[in-house]
Amino acid sequence: MNIVDIILKKRYKQDLTFEEIDYFVRGVTDGSIPDYQISALLMAIVLNGMHRQEMTNLTLCMADSGTYADLSYCRGIPVDKHSTGGVGDKVTPLLLPLLATFEVDSVKLSGRGLGFTGGTIDKFESIKGFNTAIPTADFPRLVNETGMVLSAQTPDLAPADKILYALRDVTGTVDSIPLIASSIMSKKIAGGAKALVLDVTCGSGAFMKTRERADKLAAAMRTIGRLAQIKTVCVITDMDQPLGRTCGNTLEMQEVMETFTGRGAPDVIRVVCTLAVQLIKLAKKTGGMSDEDLYKECEIRLTTGPALAKFFELLASQGGELSPSGPVYRELPHEAMRITSPVDGYVKHIQADKIGMISVKLGAGRVQKTDEIDYGAGICFYAKVGDRVRRGDVICSLCHGVSRNVSDDLLFDLMEEIYDCYEFSDEPVETSDPIIKILD
Ligand code: URA
Repeated sequence: MNIVDIILKKRYKQDLTFEEIDYFVRGVTDGSIPDYQISALLMAIVLNGMHRQEMTNLTLCMADSGTYADLSYCRGIPVDKHSTGGVGDKVTPLLLPLLATFEVDSVKLSGRGLGFTGGTIDKFESIKGFNTAIPTADFPRLVNETGMVLSAQTPDLAPADKILYALRDVTGTVDSIPLIASSIMSKKIAGGAKALVLDVTCGSGAFMKTRERADKLAAAMRTIGRLAQIKTVCVITDMDQPLGRTCGNTLEMQEVMETFTGRGAPDVIRVVCTLAVQLIKLAKKTGGMSDEDLYKECEIRLTTGPALAKFFELLASQGGELSPSGPVYRELPHEAMRITSPVDGYVKHIQADKIGMISVKLGAGRVQKTDEIDYGAGICFYAKVGDRVRRGDVICSLCHGVSRNVSDDLLFDLMEEIYDCYEFSDEPVETSDPIIKILD
């Protein structure tokens, strides 16, 4: 077999066989195919797409490039959750402890933030001492103790995807439904789950900017799930404004604490409880409750203490420092600038990807993988879509870590950028349910 023939085949819109895809993925993994040829094939896939079977074969070959996790130590059916990313997405630290209260075990392998989206690992690392590099051999003990383990992705989990993703990032080939779907599903399949709930985010703060693209991505991942015999539920959620009231690492973990203690934002609670119901059903741990009752029970356990107790167990089991008042953070946020509404009216739209980039410029994320982040940096939202504001009301604030400095020049530049993200209306603005659709 010859890689140039494979590239040409895709260039002329022909389907690749299993053997050709397998040859390509092996060559990526062992380094025998150079980056320029890998990139050429990736671009041909971006331009000419892949049919269902090709996409599934790519997924299975990428999963096969590393080792498969055996989750037989989990109680019941091993389930997993994945989000396609967003701004202010603090779902995972809320969801895992909630699931643990239903005896649904979680082995969660998460990533760091890149681009305008935040990463779960960075959020947990805002807590002093919390270890996200857990050796795989320790997973069963931790799951046995608390029902949860949260770790950075292990190097042997779909290594071909790691190589391809890094190349896609620098060759303009990230935005492709077959490549995104196979990238996500290969890691989930290798991760050992037997059933999945995928939070497919949609809107300005997501990779999928439109409903049509979100539907297509969901359909592609469900097709792969079906062909790979993994029950896959997709929940399409609204990410057309940041989720909740904060973005930034410590800020989001503080919001997680507020949610556990009954002071959470309604959109966050809605997304967490909806995903929880789907996962509990897949794990067959509903205890005979109807969907409606289960949802109510999730809300109660999430906001009145049971999930908080499990959250503290998770933090303690992975070395996170706890004080009597809650987690101890590496860096606390300092509110450096409050931004006020320029008009009387209603918030119509908040451009979430630009908000995410402003948060990155404050120090909350990385421009390059090696950048150090300021855990205290981020943005607090005091007015969200639909809220009535008067001229001079604070709509949001910019934060940096208490021990850090951000120049006034940068803060004023970012203030200008924030004004570009907010759109106001004279008329009341209707708000919509953050759950757009459930495909089960
Ligand atoms: N997340 C992934 O894991 N892979 C992609 O390609 C895009 C988002």
